[in-house]
Amino acid sequence: MSRVICDQSVSLDGFSAGPNQSLENPLGENGLRVHEWMFVTNPWRMSQGLPAVPETADDAVAGDLMSNAGVGAVIMGRNMFGPIRGGWDRSWKGWWGDDPPYHAPVFVLTHHPRDPVPMQGGTTFYFVTDGVESALEQAREAAGDKDIRIGGGASTVQQFIRAGHLDELHLHLVPIILGAGQRLLENVGDPKMTPVSVIASPTVTHIRYSIERQ
Ligand SMILES: NC(=O)c1ccc[n+]([C@@H]2O[C@H](COP(=O)([O-])OP(=O)(O)OC[C@H]3O[C@@H](n4cnc5c(N)ncnc54)[C@H](OP(=O)(O)O)[C@@H]3O)[C@@H](O)[C@H]2O)c1
Repeated sequence: MSRVICDQSVSLDGFSAGPNQSLENPLGENGLRVHEWMFVTNPWRMSQGLPAVPETADDAVAGDLMSNAGVGAVIMGRNMFGPIRGGWDRSWKGWWGDDPPYHAPVFVLTHHPRDPVPMQGGTTFYFVTDGVESALEQAREAAGDKDIRIGGGASTVQQFIRAGHLDELHLHLVPIILGAGQRLLENVGDPKMTPVSVIASPTVTHIRYSIERQ
């Protein structure tokens, strides 16, 4: 059965991005540090054409995440899609180049209407202006039996948890203190979360929680 899942890298003080996102700082000031663990894994190195290095416990996690295997649709917020606020600059097509790593329909939550943007490799960005329920309905339709991934950022993840729609939250807990930025688990109520697996590497603790549907 299709699940609604979400992977987020977070600092120990709970931030998934730093403050003041910009073109130069997609994850906000200092925020790239929450993703650094991925850049030393073999799945990432191979995607960049770099030679493999000895495997770590993070490799399997990163491989799973980057392959998007079993995921039939993605939902993300407008700030994850890009640094632009207000009306669209229509030349902006996301951070990920001509062939984004999703290979599936991506539903971008926004208050600003825009026609769909088809990309190479099976990714099309659809812009959803009528809220999370509509985005989820469209994602379910597109995904069929496959999972739906909530890509982020924090504001989007929070809405899905609050609405009781998230089945699994996969936290990649990075031992750094960001001190400021987008705090992931804010204003989400008190959902019942049960740890279902833990992978501890020397650098990151990967915890999968199931969330009881409301
Ligand atoms: N650590 C990680 O694993 C991870 C993962 C993903 C993203 N990130 C980072 O997180 C940051 C973004 O997080 P964020 O919390 O600022 O933003 P976000 O969730 O990506 O986007 C928020 C924006 O999306 C639009 N939106 C969200 N919900 C909506 C709704 N129900 N209806 C209409 N529009 C809606 C609004 O934009 P408009 O009003 O402008 O349309 C809103 O300001 C970025 O720096 C990104 O790189 C981190």
